[in-house]
Amino acid sequence: MFKTVRMTVNGKAVELAVDERESLTDTLRERLGLTSVKKGCEVGECGACTVLIDGVSKNSCIYLTVWADGHEIITVEGIRGKNGLLHPVQQAFVDEAAIQCGFCTPGLILTGVELVNSGKKYSRAELRERISGHLCRCTGYENILRALEKVVGSESD
Ligand code: FES
Ligand code: FES
Repeated sequence: MFKTVRMTVNGKAVELAVDERESLTDTLRERLGLTSVKKGCEVGECGACTVLIDGVSKNSCIYLTVWADGHEIITVEGIRGKNGLLHPVQQAFVDEAAIQCGFCTPGLILTGVELVNSGKKYSRAELRERISGHLCRCTGYENILRALEKVVGSESD
């Protein structure tokens, strides 16, 4: 069964007919060409497919596109400023060399954007907890935590 879905993706209104079983990952990657959204485990375990839905980070592989009807989706393609500058979270990842193969990076960046948008500051322990849904095979997490601390870190801890 196909259903028409209307949503906002990276600030643009999108309307398309989707199979009711289609995941948001597939819609974003295969139909809209937003390949920053990565496919890892596809069962909600690794965080590679993370997108922001109404500002909240979610695993798009276990989120049906039909559920996105009426909602606002942001992927990494949607966070750069009009002047082309990197988002502060992206810049912090570059500055702290928090990227190796980069497969986990878009998801972590979007979780970082969610944290920045919360307006709060986070201790290292809190940041560890907040990124616990993201698996990185490469970095050992230290540089990722340093990057996040640069933008949302608190003095404590
Ligand atoms: S691909 Fe979605 S959580 Fe792993
Ligand atoms: S940088 Fe390779 S998986 Fe994280």
